[in-house]
Amino acid sequence: MLNGPDYQTPQQLDELEKNAAAELAAVADDTAAEAFRVKYLGKKGLLRSLLKGLGSMQPDQRKAFGARANSLYARIEEAFAAAPWRRQAAAQPDAGSFDPTLPAWPLPAGSIHPLSRICRHICDIFVSMGFDIAEGPEVETEYHNFDALNFPPHHPARDMQDTFFVSDTLLLRTHTSPVQIRVMKKQKPPIRCIMPGKVYRHEEISARSYCMFTQVEGLFIDENVSMADLKGTLLAFAQRFFSEKARIKIRSSFFPFTEPSIEADVECFVCGGAGCSVCKHSGWLEILGAGMVHPRVLAAGGIDKEKYTGFAFGMGVERIAMLKYRIDDIRLFFENDVRFLQQF
Ligand code: PHE
Repeated sequence: MLNGPDYQTPQQLDELEKNAAAELAAVADDTAAEAFRVKYLGKKGLLRSLLKGLGSMQPDQRKAFGARANSLYARIEEAFAAAPWRRQAAAQPDAGSFDPTLPAWPLPAGSIHPLSRICRHICDIFVSMGFDIAEGPEVETEYHNFDALNFPPHHPARDMQDTFFVSDTLLLRTHTSPVQIRVMKKQKPPIRCIMPGKVYRHEEISARSYCMFTQVEGLFIDENVSMADLKGTLLAFAQRFFSEKARIKIRSSFFPFTEPSIEADVECFVCGGAGCSVCKHSGWLEILGAGMVHPRVLAAGGIDKEKYTGFAFGMGVERIAMLKYRIDDIRLFFENDVRFLQQF
């Protein structure tokens, strides 16, 4: 039997295709079909094993050969899915010999998108701590996105550079914080809410930033809520999400809608804080912005700011997914290339 390295010229690929076509035409039952699948399409099959020889090729040869081998794989896969014996089997159903205990054919199944997976995981952790889930519109009013969140009228973030305006007063929300206002207007404290969703910014598209991304916002309002509650909540989250031993570090920061404002870093879960390429040798990963809800924001939400205090936080799901799965290009999340998505 021929094995991978024997097929390393374009002619040999053609030969492999011919052999596969002839063998597929002769497949007459499930056992033969499975043998065919294992031989050509399986993890240790001919096509996969010949791709292993790529490493030793010249770069230009490697590219051409790799492309040919990949498209050959796709063709054989397609031919296999449409093989004649399947049609015959379907055309002559033999009710008497139907065995419901036979294992099913592996159908190509979809998988959960890595962003949805991370987003659900984050939300599940907060739901288990007693938070509810809320959502708001992606086309938002300037009022909810900026004014109610205490952005001064001429704050640079309102600039056309960052914000996609839909009309004079409507825009694509630039963060999930406007949902805080919507939740405050609808609910009475105590409020414990987690708000996932897409946000949009007019950014140069690169490996690090995209015009659309995903955030998870959190809001907790009650009597006597303090910074210690915020820290405890974030630590509990980090230990559930990253690692039991995770520590967090809090740095002061600025957001118009929180006072005081902080940014939280989690100890690098790859190197445990020793320093590695994922944490750029700092031992820490920046994961979110947060702070105590500004009294003006409470007032805009119709909450009695003398009686209640609260904390809010917002985290970027792409960033967390990139750290967790070591993905180095944010654009991969939005291209929907099946070869990328299949890995999750
Ligand atoms: N909305 C902020 C951002 O997009 C994050 C944030 C949310 C900060 C809530 C503080 C409180 O960067």
